[in-house]
Amino acid sequence: MARITAGITTSHVPAIGAAVDHGKTEQDYWKPLFQGYEWTREWIGRERPDVVILIYNDHASAFSLDMIPTFALGCAERFSPADEGFGARPVPIAEGHPDLAWHLAQSLILDEFDITIMNKMDVDHGFTVPMTLMFGEAEAWPVKVVPLAVNVVQYPPPTGNRCWMLGEAIRKAVHSYGEDLKVQVWGTGGMSHQLQGPRAGLINTPFDLSFLDRLTSDPQALRRIPHLEYLREAGSEGIEMVMWLIMRGALGDDVREIHRHYHVPASNTAVGHLVLEALS
Ligand code: DHB
Ligand code: FE
Repeated sequence: MARITAGITTSHVPAIGAAVDHGKTEQDYWKPLFQGYEWTREWIGRERPDVVILIYNDHASAFSLDMIPTFALGCAERFSPADEGFGARPVPIAEGHPDLAWHLAQSLILDEFDITIMNKMDVDHGFTVPMTLMFGEAEAWPVKVVPLAVNVVQYPPPTGNRCWMLGEAIRKAVHSYGEDLKVQVWGTGGMSHQLQGPRAGLINTPFDLSFLDRLTSDPQALRRIPHLEYLREAGSEGIEMVMWLIMRGALGDDVREIHRHYHVPASNTAVGHLVLEALS
């Protein structure tokens, strides 16, 4: 039987990917950011998950404003890095797990989640930056990946509660998959940041730290945070944090925080990173 062993949350700021691609990780500005991921890279090298269900959002790269699926599941054999305007990042093409992805699609849709099935999808920094943070400059990624793209770009995004319920349904689907697979679920995006308008540059460290704490101490409370509260407290792009609740819903009741990193700023963004072990 497949099982979910751990969850990871991380911001996916594009400048982090550019810092790696241009050899800047040792610079004073970037070093403390990358140091906070060293523990995880060592840990994941020992953990060796078979598959990552990578929850992220597309930033108008694979989807234009012509078509905006709320939840888009990557069922393809492979996923190429998207060209976001400066050429595709020099990172490996990610290998999918179509059999698990189709099983997820069936289980989720029969569980009444309206999932869009993606048989071709390029993946942008929301996907590639977390992969780089966890696995460095690899020749090939050491895991298979099932991407799940969530709309947090065009109003209305799904609620945190809906995201949590989707996570629970992902858990059920993984647990009903016959093959013995070690699966991790990653929730990316956040933390507080606003990229435009009069409040551009907004960072709210107390809100971010409370969110990190509550993922283990009081996760049920996070389900009830309304969109307006994300907007007010975490800035217009802080809404990306609803994706962390898909990850958290997928981990089950019993989790333990085994690593935390919080760093301000990376570009204009508060970076938050957790590793949560699933105990049940
Ligand atoms: C930026 C973009 C993002 O998608 C994000 O999550 C954080 C920062 C940026 O353009 O700086
Ligand atoms: Fe983003």
